[in-house]
Amino acid sequence: MAKNKIDQSTLNKMKKKGEPITMVTAYDYPTARIAEQAGVDTVLVGDSAGNVVLGYPDTLAVTMDELLHHTKAVHRGVSKAMLIGDMPFMSYNVSIQQAIGNGGRFIKEAGADAVKIEGGDWVVDTARAMVKAGIPVVGHLGLTPQTASSLGGYKVQGRTAESARRILRDALALQDAGVIMLVLELVPDRLGELLSKRLEIPVIGIGAGNKTDGQVLVFHDLVGIAAGFQPKFVKQYAQVGKIMNEALSQYCSDVKSREFPAPEHCFSIPDEEFELLEKALD
Ligand code: KIV
Repeated sequence: MAKNKIDQSTLNKMKKKGEPITMVTAYDYPTARIAEQAGVDTVLVGDSAGNVVLGYPDTLAVTMDELLHHTKAVHRGVSKAMLIGDMPFMSYNVSIQQAIGNGGRFIKEAGADAVKIEGGDWVVDTARAMVKAGIPVVGHLGLTPQTASSLGGYKVQGRTAESARRILRDALALQDAGVIMLVLELVPDRLGELLSKRLEIPVIGIGAGNKTDGQVLVFHDLVGIAAGFQPKFVKQYAQVGKIMNEALSQYCSDVKSREFPAPEHCFSIPDEEFELLEKALD
């Protein structure tokens, strides 16, 4: 294990000190390395891999095998950051045995430190059983993309006192079940703050205001290489997509004009050897 490996107790200490926790998604080795080198505390191999890097319309189609494959690659790129594997839709919803079996695969086969599951009271027993089986579990409340259609689509959650209370109740139940951390997505900022204050475990927000214990963003949104719609909560820190586009256009143009490869990219053969070759061919 890496020196200074970030674990649950590190994150709990950060929460106690009021030091914000950083989380970012990664789906492959190079982005994992970039996140680790930048000093990100926790890396999430999100099921957002489905729409972000696999080209599915949403997260629902992603399979266990796909996310295990991505998690293994990310694991090879991080040593210090806590690595969280996201359990795909229907990989923990069928039975507790199924959840433990699949959660265990993330830890044993892919090198994840913890797994994330979405949902409130209906996953509490599952979370408890997974924790008892030795699998560190991260919860996910607010907007839960895997069940977005039953929440009325990609809408801010917890905007009424009743729905905010339900989210708090679910969060406390998950904490009681032993989850080590909670991702809170798309809720009003004051609810993000309230949950962070009421819970002992760290609350990592995405679209949940700036008073949560930490923040998570999708890597490709953050660096500006995501395709399609960008939610209001995203801050784009760079336009890497634009830079990549310019580089690829220049490459195409250089190949067409034979400016690439230039002499410095080529390999030589001694004159006498080439003459011998030509003679042999004559
Ligand atoms: O799948 C994902 O990327 C996520 C984060 C946005 C929290 O669940």
